[in-house]
Amino acid sequence: MCSLVRMTLDTETGDVGLVRAIKEFSPDFLNHIADYAGDLRRESLLIFLTLAKAIGAKTIVETGTIRVKDAPDGQSTKVFAEYARLTGAKVYSVDITPEHIETSKSELGDLLPYVTYACEDSVTWLSRFNAPIDMLYLDSYDFEVDNPTASQQHELAEIGAAYGKLSTPGAVLLDDCALPFEGKGYLGTRFLQSRGWKMVFDGYQRLFINF
Ligand SMILES: C[S@@+](CC[C@H](N)C(=O)[O-])C[C@H]1O[C@@H](n2cnc3c(N)ncnc32)[C@H](O)[C@@H]1O
Repeated sequence: MCSLVRMTLDTETGDVGLVRAIKEFSPDFLNHIADYAGDLRRESLLIFLTLAKAIGAKTIVETGTIRVKDAPDGQSTKVFAEYARLTGAKVYSVDITPEHIETSKSELGDLLPYVTYACEDSVTWLSRFNAPIDMLYLDSYDFEVDNPTASQQHELAEIGAAYGKLSTPGAVLLDDCALPFEGKGYLGTRFLQSRGWKMVFDGYQRLFINF
C-alpha cells in the first residue's frame, strides 16, 4: 500500500490523500458499500472507491453487471452507482447477456439513473468507447478451472481495448484473482506490471495504479 499512502499529504491536517478521501464518505455510505460487496471484496472495493474519490474520478467502467438478485459476486454495479450518486461521476456497465442487464437494472432501484448500460461484448464496446476511463473494473466472463485461459485471455483483450483510454492517474481492478492459476487476473497482471503499473492490493481482487 506504500505508493497509495504516499499519494498526497495535506500539510495542514497531516492527512494523506486516502485518509482524507475516506473521511468524506458518510458512515451510511460506507455501510452500504460494505454490505453490497460482501466479505471477499469489501476491502478492495472500499479502497477502489476511496482511491476514486482521492483522484476525483469522473468515469468508472465495469465489465460484467449484476446478474442475480443479491449477487454474491460483489454487486459491483450497485457499489459504483452509489459512488456516482454521491459524486456525480459517470458509471458505465457493460454485459453481453440481455437478461443480466435486465436483472441488474431491476436490482438497482433508485440507483438506476446513475448507470449507463451497454449490452454488448465488452471488448467490442471498450474498443469503441471514446472517453477517458479513470477507473476500470473487469469482471466479465466466468473463470473455469478446467479452462483458465478463456477468461484470462478475455480480460487481457479488455485491458488492451481500454488501455489507450485509461487516465493518469487511473486504476484498474481485476476480480477473481485468488484462484488456481491466479484466476482471471493472470495475464492482465503481467500486462499491467510490464507497463509500469503498480499492484497496490493483492487479494481476491487485484488493484493496479499508474501513478
Ligand atoms: C461474474 S458476473 C458479473 C458480476 C457483477 N460484477 C457483480 O458484482 O455482481 C459476469 C458477467 O459477465 C458477463 N459476460 C460474459 N462474457 C462477456 C463478454 N464477452 N462481454 C461482456 N460481458 C460478458 C456475463 O453475462 C455475466 O453477467
